[in-house]
Amino acid sequence: MITVMGIFAADLVFHTPKLPAWGETVLGSGFGIGPGGKGSNQAIATARLGAPVEFLAKIGQDDFGAMARGIYAREGVGTRFLRESADLPTGSAAIIIDDRAGENAIIVVPGAAAALTTAEIDGAAEAIDASSVFLTQLETPQPLVLHALRRARAAGSVTMLNPAPAAALSDEILGLVDILTPNETEAAMLSGLPVTDTAEAEAAADALIARGAGAVVITLGEKGALLRKDGQTVLAMAVKAGPVVDTTGAGDSFNAGIAVALSEGKTLAEALGFACAVAGLKVTRAGAGAGMPKRAEVEALLAGSRPPA
Ligand code: RIB
Repeated sequence: MITVMGIFAADLVFHTPKLPAWGETVLGSGFGIGPGGKGSNQAIATARLGAPVEFLAKIGQDDFGAMARGIYAREGVGTRFLRESADLPTGSAAIIIDDRAGENAIIVVPGAAAALTTAEIDGAAEAIDASSVFLTQLETPQPLVLHALRRARAAGSVTMLNPAPAAALSDEILGLVDILTPNETEAAMLSGLPVTDTAEAEAAADALIARGAGAVVITLGEKGALLRKDGQTVLAMAVKAGPVVDTTGAGDSFNAGIAVALSEGKTLAEALGFACAVAGLKVTRAGAGAGMPKRAEVEALLAGSRPPA
């Protein structure tokens, strides 16, 4: 089993031909609402990849909260430890997608999810203790991340931290992380070193390992991913599954792929290739949570056949 701690956010997705400057209004080209929040995306992807998952988070008693519960019921995401706030809103995110570049810019407001408490994390001990992998990100406040990592480490789970959005981390947090999964920007920010090529990525990863992380997996976008552990590097190529439609949640799908593969007994090096295939499929689909691929699609892609529609 896998426990994911993080936030649910209703993603309000705006497509536009150009980003507005401050004070400017531009006419957008499309709009949609769907499930988001890094933790929630990772939990949905985990369920679609076929692993039992509990999602530890807090939502509000509002329409977006009901949306979250409906999705988890359909997807089979465990909600025994999904808490509710009577007065705070469910998280939300403004996602602006540039029609031309396909790039996105995101503002996320965690809402009720930021009010999860250490007592509520302790209350999820049954799930954490039963999980071979514990996965979290930085959309919940760092004191909660620290508390949960301590709890998961004590339970003997493999601890994974996806350090997104980028933020400075203490050595104490890094020392509790078995697998740190930054993208290039986050790796540069966390290490204080440039990350523009493989040699620089290795140096940044080594700097983070020297501060306590067990292993570092740096996602490199269309270049794939780099695993650094014990002075050794494993590189995995990105997997092309079709035209890129939406990169939102690609990192989340990758993290879920690593977690699921590890929970099934694969090595981290083996997990890397699986996770690249998961992310390769995700970017061909619209939506963060909604675009997560199913296990059969990933298996078909890895086997070299066409993924089922
Ligand atoms: O990683 C993508 C996610 O980041 C989006 O779904 C958005 O909600 C933000 O949390």
